[in-house]
This record gives sequence, C-alpha cells and structure tokens, in this order.
Amino acid sequence: MITIKGMGGIEITSDYGHVYLTFIDTIAVISDMYINEASRRKGHGSLLVIECLSIARQLRCSRVMLHVDLDNIPAKKLYEQYGFKKTVVEDHMEVILNGKDQEEAPPSSV
Ligand SMILES: CC(C)(COP(=O)(O)OP(=O)(O)OC[C@H]1O[C@@H](n2cnc3c(N)ncnc32)[C@H](O)[C@@H]1OP(=O)(O)O)[C@@H](O)C(=O)NCCC(=O)NCCS
Repeated sequence: MITIKGMGGIEITSDYGHVYLTFIDTIAVISDMYINEASRRKGHGSLLVIECLSIARQLRCSRVMLHVDLDNIPAKKLYEQYGFKKTVVEDHMEVILNGKDQEEAPPSSV
C-alpha cells in the first residue's frame, strides 16, 4: 500500500514492513526501511527497495539516496544488490577539533 505523507513524502507499507520515500528537488531519499524480525530474509525488504526505485523512475528522479550505518551489514548488502554505492559527500569542508591536527597546523603569522 502507498500512502502520501505530508511534505511530499510517500510511505510504502506491506504486511511485513514499511519504508519512506521523500524528495529533495529531483533526488529521492529512502528512509526508515523496516521489516518485522520474523519476516526477514524472505525477500520483503527487496520488494520495498524495488518499489522505491520504480516510483523514483516514474517521477523521473535523478538519483536515489539513503543513509545506512556502515556496520549494518544486512541493510548494506540489500542496497548493494540494487546498485547502491557509497558516496563521497561533495562540497563540504571541516576542521577536526581533536587537537592533533591543530598541533600539526603551520603556525599562524599573527
Ligand atoms: C535490512 C532489512 C530491511 C532487510 O530486509 P529483508 O526482508 O530481510 O531483506 P531481503 O530478504 O529482501 O534480503 C535481500 C538481501 O539483503 C541481504 N541481507 C538481508 N539480510 C541479511 C543478513 N542478515 N545478513 C547478510 N545479508 C543480508 C542479502 O544480500 C539478501 O539477499 P539474499 O537473501 O539473496 O542473500 C531488515 O533486516 C531490517 O528491517 N533490519 C532492521 C532495520 C534496518 O536496519 N533498516 C535499514 C536502515 S538503513
């Protein structure tokens, strides 16, 4: 079943779990993928991913993104089966504040 949520999101539910699909411009974002424990490893997660990809294609989205913890092996393997690859976050800058990098930084001229 597909339910339209507020803010342009979609909830896709089955008898075994659910997933949310939201949109940022032309990017579809998968979140909250969940299959009931007793029903795992029977292909139900795959069906939800397939449905998300199908909707994203129908809406002519340019890409589908998601966040997955690196140690969540079942989820990572599931997504990899459908072509998902790790991204490099572009256009971000950072300073590390653990002390080490600051000690190694060249001395300030002021
Ligand atoms: C991740 C999750 C959605 C997978 O759902 P599922 O219905 O079990 O997945 P499927 O049965 O469709 O499995 C598809 C593929 O995923 C991978 N996979 C799924 N469970 C796995 C496990 N426990 N260990 C290793 N690989 C696993 C396998 O590659 C599997 O293909 P295969 O069975 O042919 O080997 C489910 O485990 C879950 O709800 N986990 C808790 C919530 C969660 O972590 N959500 C993801 C947030 S990013």
